[in-house]
Order: sequence, then C-alpha cells, then structure tokens
Amino acid sequence: MSGADCIGAEAAARRRAAVRAVLGERATFAPRASAVAYACANVALVKYWGKRDETLRLPETDSLSVSLGRIGTETRIELADGDELRLNGARVAPEDPVATRVFDFLALFPVRPAGGFRVVTTNTVPTAAGVASSASAFAALVRALDGVYGWRLSEREMSVLARLGSGSACRSLWRGFVRWRRGERPDGLDSHGEPLDANWPQLRVGLWLVDGGAKAWRSGDAMAHCRATSPLYRAWLDVVPTDLHEVEAAIAQRDIERLGRAAEGNALAMHAVMWAARPPVRYWTAATLEAVREVEAARAEGVPVWFTMDAGPNLKLLYETGAGARVRERWPHIEEIEP
Ligand code: DP6
Repeated sequence: MSGADCIGAEAAARRRAAVRAVLGERATFAPRASAVAYACANVALVKYWGKRDETLRLPETDSLSVSLGRIGTETRIELADGDELRLNGARVAPEDPVATRVFDFLALFPVRPAGGFRVVTTNTVPTAAGVASSASAFAALVRALDGVYGWRLSEREMSVLARLGSGSACRSLWRGFVRWRRGERPDGLDSHGEPLDANWPQLRVGLWLVDGGAKAWRSGDAMAHCRATSPLYRAWLDVVPTDLHEVEAAIAQRDIERLGRAAEGNALAMHAVMWAARPPVRYWTAATLEAVREVEAARAEGVPVWFTMDAGPNLKLLYETGAGARVRERWPHIEEIEP
C-alpha cells in the first residue's frame, strides 16, 4: 500500500465510523426497497469557506443559507445487478469523478446490497453553473437512502450524513433559512443544519447565469487552497460572526437592505480571500464585473437589489416582490425563485 492509499484508507475509516455513530443499531439494516426523494438547492447568505477537518467536512465557521424551492435534485435509488449512476437521463461512466464521488459515499454505509445500487438522479439545477448541485444531490441521496434502508432518521441525522458527501448539503434538508452549526466535536455529530424559525414570503432570489462554462477550481479544492495560502483567510474568520449576526437580524426584521448589504459584503469578502490566495482563485470573468456594476447602478437609481456569488462567475440577486417588476424589466433573462 502506498502512503497515499494509507491516508485514503484512514480517511475512509473515519468517515465510516461517523456513519456508524449516526446509525447506531440501525447500522445492521439491509437495503430492501427502492425509494425516491427530493431536496432543494440552497444559496448561502453567509458562506462556508474552509474546513477545519477535510475528511469529515467540518467547517471552520457557521454558515447560513436560504433554500431554492423548485431548484433542486430528485433521486431514486433501486437495487440493481451492479452499481450504476444515471444523471439527467444519461448513464454516467463509472470512472467519471461524479460517479466515483457518489459510489465512494454509498460505500460508507455498512450493509451493501448483493448486487449494487442504481441511482437515478435529475437536477433542476443547471449543473456546474453557479448553483451548487452537490448540495441538493447529497441531501436527496441521503433521504432516498433513508427510504431504501428504512432507518427513519431525523432531519438532523440526515444532515450529518449529507455533510459527509458535500458540506453545503447539510443545509439542504430543510426549506427556508438554515444555519449550519459548525459544532465542536471531533466526530462531527454536532455539525449539521438547523432551520431558522422565520419566514419571509416576499423574498426572491434571481439566478443570473453570467457564464455557463466549466469552473477552473472545484469549490472544495479552492477553499483548502485559500485556507492554506491566502493572507486574508484569518480576516475571513473574523468577518463571518458579524455577518451571521447581521443576516439573522435582517431575516427576523425582514429588512432587505440589511440582508442585502451583509450578504453582498460576505460574498465579496469570500472572493477577496480567493483573489489574495497564492496563486489566486479567480471565478470572476469580465461579464461578472459588468453584472456587478449593473446591480450597483440599479441600486443608485433606487432599485433595492443586492447580489451574492458562490464559487463561480454567476450572480444570485436578492430582492423583494415589490422590486420584482423593476428587476425583471432590467434583466429579463434572470430566473426568479421563490425560496
Ligand atoms: C461557495 O459544499 O461544494 O458555495 O464540502 O468541499 O463539497 P465541499 O464544498 P461545497 O462548498 C460550497 C461553497 C460555497 C459557499 C456555501 O455554499 O456556503
């Protein structure tokens, strides 16, 4: 076994131990049926950017998101003769990184089916286009597994499991606003999403696809690189608690200006961390900067609209229904989502 294999085996063992800790005596249940589940995508208003534990995907800080309603993933799991992944109607080659990520995740569960799993998944998320599909994908996968194994896990337990597939997935088990508590435990059992007791019926998210091309950096690699090399990373850790406080207060008061300023500032701070990394991580294109300027110009003209951005060149606009007509008139191409 090479050194890298040893590290891989050790990481897999820690991940399997985390799964067993969640399942408890249910770890002996055998998969016995097919099941289908849906999970919404989410967009972070205060971002998760950096892990304190790569293996268990434990974050450095809390983060806070709003779910994206009809934008998400539906996944069906069936018992089959061998492992197979179908994504948006097409079979994914077993060696494709998307398939290995899914089947490495499924391999964490103690009792395997005799043949394998067929995973049939459909995204209403434009894959790799700025709305993370991995969040809704792993949340839907865990929900479907819960049906296949008959565990009857709580949302919180499913959130811990989904986190092992993709960090932001732990916020996709609920609709509305969700705060991911970073937790303190080394095994990550206290690191999961928690729904906020709040709703904001007038809030809208506008998906603005600036550039649909493939991303240069995967978000997980980019955040690890930023944590290791960006001189602004420590400042990021100081900014997050303030932004969390601001965003929670804005949600409680349904204050769009307060929300917009905090969420936009947080996204720009995350991107500043990326620009300062060595070498830099730049998701921005010329079109991104142009779009940001258009949002600022709209605001200067009195349209209450702000943006957030994730690990990609695209914008997500934040506004209320009262500004909806003006937003859609300026940017007819955006996809308006009711969270
Ligand atoms: C910029 O959840 O995709 O969207 O845990 O490595 O799978 P992994 O990362 P992922 O990162 C999302 C980063 C982000 C911010 C956020 O959603 O909070």
